[in-house]
Amino acid sequence: MSFWSVSVRIWTVAHSKIINTLKHMKNTPRILILSKGDPHALATSLAREIPEAEILTDPADIQGGPVPYIVAGKPDPGIIASVPGAELILSLNAGIEHLLIPGEVPEQVGIVRLVDPAMTEGMSDWCLATLLSWHRNLPLYRADTTWNRRTEVLSRDRIVTVLGAGTLGSRVARLAALIGFQTRVWSRSGRSVDGAQAFAGFEGLIEATTGADAVINLLPLTPETENVLDENLFGRMAKGGFVSSAGRGPHLVDADLIAALDSGQLNSAALDVFRTEPLPDDDPLNVHPDVLVTPHVSAPTQANSAMRIMAENIRRHQQGKPIAELVDRSKGY
Ligand code: NAP
Ligand code: GLV
Repeated sequence: MSFWSVSVRIWTVAHSKIINTLKHMKNTPRILILSKGDPHALATSLAREIPEAEILTDPADIQGGPVPYIVAGKPDPGIIASVPGAELILSLNAGIEHLLIPGEVPEQVGIVRLVDPAMTEGMSDWCLATLLSWHRNLPLYRADTTWNRRTEVLSRDRIVTVLGAGTLGSRVARLAALIGFQTRVWSRSGRSVDGAQAFAGFEGLIEATTGADAVINLLPLTPETENVLDENLFGRMAKGGFVSSAGRGPHLVDADLIAALDSGQLNSAALDVFRTEPLPDDDPLNVHPDVLVTPHVSAPTQANSAMRIMAENIRRHQQGKPIAELVDRSKGY
């Protein structure tokens, strides 16, 4: 065999080894899980979906190599930005405002928010449970066990306004309408929802909340939606109304809610999210008799289904396919 044919053979073998290694690296996604919950349980669940993945649960284990995929809850500030080679952040939450804080996720890195039918189901359960409980006076009967019949109103005679017509708000509005409530829904674009009257923009917010008996907040937190639940909105609602919020704490002006409850403008409220979490024991909202406080449990992330969805998104990204639910940074959600 000539010198040249041996050289060509050596080069060909080396070349195919490099190609195989690259192929292997492409099919073996490195994934870092940054979660203050139970990252090992998430890793076990994710490994079931992508057995070929290398899954890390501690940034200390990265050791220089690139990590294209990060499954992120609410990590300490700056951690995500320090991960080399990040390409996609898969949020463990539907709300991603914490990931948009400047310096957290570099501009070129995509963020996928969690959209999971299991989460939507949980949120609908919570919103309808709190709405119907107020609607049928259940807290009053629980507090007063004498045979005291309250005025009972039919759902068709009540107006329910849902703020947000996205994944969560649209299902809640659809179900409220199916039950029979006169349902209104407010969004940025005026997105339509079966059975509900749709509104958009600031003027739309005024129309959507004027005379509303109940307002359910399922907005994302952005500079435009912060403080949306304020004295003006409460003042436009029908007297004796009900407010629930499972969006984010800063949507609510706490003092305005307490004033509206104390004046009788509002009857009661149900809150799942707060400016400070956990909510301090002595917080005025926590001790108010007309406020139901739940500890951010309205729609917890369901680990198994969330990992299934993330695995699918990682595969799509590897195959160069488009990924739904990529965050639009210009809109902030
Ligand atoms: P989504 O699908 O992105 O929907 C957001 C909705 O809000 C859309 O209809 C959007 O309008 C509307 N919107 C945004 N900015 C607006 C503005 N300035 N004016 C009027 N409407 C505006 O979000 P999602 O999945 O339904 O989740 C909503 C939020 O729920 C999350 O961001 C999170 O904060 C909260 N959440 C809480 C829990 C919990 O456990 N408490 C769990 C999950 C989620 P367009 O339709 O026109 O875009
Ligand atoms: C929970 O609050 C979430 O945004 O998923």
